[in-house]
Amino acid sequence: MATPHNIVVLVGSIRKESFTLKIANALAKLAPDTLKLDVVSLHGISFFDQDLETTPPADWLAFREKIQKSAGVLFVTPEYNRSIPGVLKNAIDVGSRPSGKSSFLGKPIGIISNSPGPLGGVSAAKHLQNILPGISGPILGQPEIYLNGVGDAFDEKGHLAKEGLQKVLQQYIDAYAAFVDKHNK
Ligand SMILES: Cc1cc2nc3c(=O)[nH]c(=O)nc-3n(C[C@H](O)[C@H](O)[C@H](O)COP(=O)(O)O)c2cc1C
Repeated sequence: MATPHNIVVLVGSIRKESFTLKIANALAKLAPDTLKLDVVSLHGISFFDQDLETTPPADWLAFREKIQKSAGVLFVTPEYNRSIPGVLKNAIDVGSRPSGKSSFLGKPIGIISNSPGPLGGVSAAKHLQNILPGISGPILGQPEIYLNGVGDAFDEKGHLAKEGLQKVLQQYIDAYAAFVDKHNK
C-alpha cells in the first residue's frame, strides 16, 4: 500500500474537554487508510508579533514546518462570537508568514465547524472561507459540514455516541481523502 498522506488537523479550541478536539479525534479514527491525521493543539503558539519576524520564536518555526510537510490541512473549529476563536486566527497568522511564503500555500483545505448550539458554528466556517483563499491551496466546497448539537454527542470516555454524527463525519472525511488525493498527484 502507498504511504498515507499526512494531514495536519488544526483544532480551534484549547479547552481540555473540547468537543472540537473530540470530533478531531473521532475523525482520526474514521479516516480511510490513504490519510494519516495528525491532531495538533494550538496551545503554546506564541502571539503573532510582526516585530519578531526577523527572529521568529522556535514554536512558530516548528508550526510552519509541520504545515509545510503536510499533504493537507483540516480545520476543525468551534465558533466564538460569530467568528473563529483567537487561538486559531493567531495560528493562521503565524503560518501565513513570511509574506508570500505562507506555509498553507498549495495545501488542500477542509473545514469543519461545530457547536453545542443550533447553528453548528456556520459563521466560523464562513469566516475561514474568507480568510484562507489568499494564503492556502484549494478549499473543499462540497460537502459542507456545520455540526450542531454536539454537546451530547460523546460518551464519558469521549467516544462518539451519536450514529448520525458518525455518518456525516465519515462522508466528509472520505470526500476530503479523495480531494487530497487529487491535489497530491
Ligand atoms: C467566548 C465565547 C464565545 C462563543 N460564541 C459562540 C457563538 O458565536 N456561536 C456558538 O454557536 N457558540 C458560541 N460559544 C459556545 C461554544 O460553541 C461552546 O463553548 C463550545 O463548547 C466551544 O467549543 P469546544 O467545546 O471545542 O471548546 C461561545 C463560547 C465562548 C467561550
